[in-house]
Amino acid sequence: MAGSARMRIVVIGTGGRVGGALARHFRLAGHAVVGFDRTALDLTRPEIIRDRLEPLAFDAVLLTAALTNLDRAEERPEEARAVNVEGPALVAGWCTARGARLIHFSTDYVYDGARPGLRDESEPAAPVSVYARTKAEGEERVLEATGGAALIARVSWVFGPDRPSFPDQMLERARAGARLEAIADKFSMPTSALDLGGWLEPFVDGPLRNVGGHLNFCNSGEPASWHSYGETTVALAAELGVPLRCTVIEPKPLDGTTAFRARRPVHTAMSNARLASLLGTAPRPWTVALREYLRKYHAPA
Ligand SMILES: NC(=O)c1ccc[n+]([C@@H]2O[C@H](COP(=O)([O-])OP(=O)(O)OC[C@H]3O[C@@H](n4cnc5c(N)ncnc54)[C@H](OP(=O)(O)O)[C@@H]3O)[C@@H](O)[C@H]2O)c1
Repeated sequence: MAGSARMRIVVIGTGGRVGGALARHFRLAGHAVVGFDRTALDLTRPEIIRDRLEPLAFDAVLLTAALTNLDRAEERPEEARAVNVEGPALVAGWCTARGARLIHFSTDYVYDGARPGLRDESEPAAPVSVYARTKAEGEERVLEATGGAALIARVSWVFGPDRPSFPDQMLERARAGARLEAIADKFSMPTSALDLGGWLEPFVDGPLRNVGGHLNFCNSGEPASWHSYGETTVALAAELGVPLRCTVIEPKPLDGTTAFRARRPVHTAMSNARLASLLGTAPRPWTVALREYLRKYHAPA
């Protein structure tokens, strides 16, 4: 355990990729974790938030639940607002009342992504979709309700075992011999859900427990396009002996993608320099984390 004491940690969003991984991580680290998935705690229902949190004693809340589907958010902005803004603001109020640490998860999509390079925390949020606008507003409401004490952990392009994501979908198609294509002109920084827990430990129960405000949490390395992310996934999987029937990925432009209802920002790969300096060590490259993930969850035994 990073800190000395066993903490009582609430994870909201355990049905998701990040919440599932974090609940397991902090349990294995020896903390007492109470996890809520959507059926147990619906963020759109204030009375349920109260019913779940009021009787509980807790030292920290990791708030990972969100309406994360960009196109659904565009179609249902009221629901997006309830889940991504109003629910988190209420949870933050409970944390303040209890003197509990709050780590609230957000996204690289709060940046407008208008120019190449790495986004750092000093850049203002300039969201270009309903999802991103509600996440940015959620960040501010959470900070307001905690007097700036909450940590806003912005993550990007998360992969992990608790819910399939882009590499899993690519490999499923590659195994089946289906045609592969991916957008080649939109960039971010892939991030392992399995690395997040280790980075977060000092912020939960260690020397960084009082750090508040916005902080980018992502692996290191070169920004990826969906296309290069896919190519790296397929190449690593082939090297690890995953049987693939198709390994060529056709590049396609973001502009020509008619399936999207919500606008996607282009250059949102984040700098993790501030995280690295706080941790005293740089997060490992995403390619190294991805290889480990593929070896563990996709390669033949
Ligand atoms: N994954 C990424 O690439 C990525 C990138 C940038 C930022 N983020 C941020 O990271 C955080 C965690 O994301 P994730 O990857 O774990 O997303 P996820 O896998 O989509 O999980 C989100 C969870 O929130 C739950 N949820 C949705 N509506 C809810 C509601 N009304 N009440 C309670 N729970 C509700 C979902 O329930 P169901 O299980 O029923 O769907 C799901 O389990 C989010 O804040 C997200 O914005 C993620």
